Formats: sequence, structure tokens, C-alpha cells
Amino acid sequence: MKNENKSLGLIGYHSIQYFTRDIKTCVHWHKEKFGFEEIAKSTTNWEKRHGMRAIVLLGAGKLGWIITEPIEKSSTAGRYLTNHPDGIAYLNFRVKNIKNTAEFLLDKKASILYDIESHTSPHDGSWRETSIATAIDDVGFRFIEENNFDQFAPGFEWTNKNNKTKLNDIGLDLGIDHVTCNGRSMHAITEFYRHCMGFEQYWGVEFHTAHHKPELGTGSGLESIVMWDKESGIKFATNQPLAPYFNNSQIQIYVEDNRGSGIQHIAFGTKNIIQTVEKLRERGTVFLEASDKYYEQLPERMKQMNLQKINEPYDIVRKNNILLDGSNGKYLLQIFMKEQCVQLNNKNAGPFFYEIIQREGDDSFGEGNFKALFDSIEKQQVSDHRQEMRERVDSLC
Ligand SMILES: [Fe+2]
Repeated sequence: MKNENKSLGLIGYHSIQYFTRDIKTCVHWHKEKFGFEEIAKSTTNWEKRHGMRAIVLLGAGKLGWIITEPIEKSSTAGRYLTNHPDGIAYLNFRVKNIKNTAEFLLDKKASILYDIESHTSPHDGSWRETSIATAIDDVGFRFIEENNFDQFAPGFEWTNKNNKTKLNDIGLDLGIDHVTCNGRSMHAITEFYRHCMGFEQYWGVEFHTAHHKPELGTGSGLESIVMWDKESGIKFATNQPLAPYFNNSQIQIYVEDNRGSGIQHIAFGTKNIIQTVEKLRERGTVFLEASDKYYEQLPERMKQMNLQKINEPYDIVRKNNILLDGSNGKYLLQIFMKEQCVQLNNKNAGPFFYEIIQREGDDSFGEGNFKALFDSIEKQQVSDHRQEMRERVDSLC
């Protein structure tokens, strides 16, 4: 019988699964910098069965951040980390009805990893999930229908359930704004979102430095497409390198560093980016820096955005290296953190990074900031530290 489900039935994110070789450091970093709080951990039985251990932090927007370390090399995390540096390996979504979701995925010939698994809890709660392989190399998507399940997830136990109600102490209460992936060819990924998940195109841009400075004779660029699920508002950006000088692109360099396509960054929404960024700076977090030229050109760009002024003190925005973009009098403020390999000064921590974004009516993705971001990332990629990191990542396998 033809499946009548017109959509996946996504509600939103449930949790993010982060695979790491060093759970202690990864947990400590997310607690210390982002103010994430520990809420649960894997049970001994789960650890024996899966050959991994996990600690769950309450992440931005009260989402679970499942930091997972392999015990066995043959475990899911062990196999992932044989191929890649640390990073995001699973996005877990809440769905309205898992049966409808599974039928939708089956109808679209999605690559289903396992049939619906059902779990019940002592107090009649239920948990049902299924999961699929994606076009993003070794990244998987999990779909969960949960009804009053009294643990964080099957195989987990609370370590501090009270933390579940806490507000994030640096203002990361709006959760995930978007997730961005990089691939050598983004169309395999965006078509996967379209075909297997029913997403539609939301936004797109292409940018090449050579088009702005042809006199240099070199340059690099990217193309980016944002796809979204209209029902839930979930947005995925995807980037690919843009010729000429394909191999110079920061997207290609990410793919080399990550040893395949993968999740490049997750953007957290905040209502007060200045407060969030100042607290992160106090805690020793490092950000990409825009050039002085960026701020010299900003008043002119603001005129083009039809933006007389912004609500935030301009000098503090500039002091914190926060980027501004917008159109028709609406704007967004954003900043990009340096990669985890730089934050932790560890080759294994990988090229994944976080973005912080405050939206003041602008729903775009900072097209005008792409050049500033590109310049910043490329400046960093040619730095000694970065080169050293790349050599060390090269010796991972
Ligand atoms: Fe982003």
C-alpha cells in the first residue's frame, strides 16, 4: 500500500552524539566553557553491550549532549574514530509518530540501520527509535518517539536529574539555530535531505575570493545551500568547495582534516550575544577574528542593509569581534569559535567548531559575512599552529 505520510513528522532535536577519544577532557571542556551540566550516564550493562561509555550533558536549549568514548575498537564510536578525528556522529530528532516516520523513510528508500526498537520503562513510559545512514559519510540520524520515558534514554541512568531544569549560565537557551556540513560535493547531501527527508531549499550563496581580487591570481571559494524542514523549522546548511583553486578552499581542507564529509559546525542561538561571547572569552575560549578592514567597511555595509543602527553598543560588538549582517533594516550578529583541535590544543579533537548567533529579525545565514569568515579561516589555516595540527591529524590512522 502506498505510504500516505507526507513528511517525516519531525518535532525538533532530542540530542547530539559527540564521539571522542578523550571523554574526560571533552566533558570538562563543555562544562567549563558552555556551562553544560551533567545529567546522566550510560549504565554498565549498556557499556558492556555497546563497547562504549557515555556521559550526557544538558546542552544548549536543554538538549542532550551525549559525549561518547569507545571502550572497544569494534564499537560504533571505535569504528567512527578509526576513520575520523573527534566530532559529531549522530543527530537525534524527536518525531511525532515513529511508525509514520519509519514508513516515510522506507518509502523514500532511506538506508535504514535498524527496524524500530521499542523500550518501556517501569512507569509505563515508552521509547521507540529507528536510525538511518546519511549522505554525510559516517554521520547517522536517529528518530525518537518518547512518551514519559523516565530515563534520559534506554541504557542510561540519571546522575543529576535536577540539572534538567537549570537555565544555561551563558545564555545558550535558544538551542540549535542550524547545523552545517561540508562535503567535496554538497549535492549528494542536499539531495539526500530533499529526497529521503522531504526538506526544501531555504537559502543559497556562492562566494570566491578570486572574484573579488583577481589580481592575486589565487583564491578560494565555496557554495552553500541551506535546506529546511518547514514543519519543525530545522535547518541544515551544506558547503562544497568552489573552483578555481578547489583545493585551497577551507571546505576542502575541512574534508581532508576530517577524512571525509562531516558536520563542520553547530550554531547556538542566544538572545544576548555580547553577554554570551564575553563570558566565553573570560573562560578562555578562542574565536575567529575579523580584520580591522571588516569594521572599517561595516558602516557602508550597514547603509546597504538599510540599517541606521543596532540595539547593541557598536564599540562592544567590534571589541568582541562579533560579525553583523542583514537586509531591509533587519540584522543578525554572529561569531565563529575556532576549531576544537585549537580550543583543546589536541590533534584528535578535530576540525569541528561552534558558532554563536543572535537573530534580530534576519533569517539569513550572513551572506555578507562569508568573505570575512573565509578570510579569517584561511588566515588561520596557513598559520603554523594549524599546519602543525594538520600534520598531526595526518598521522592519525
Ligand atoms: Fe553557521
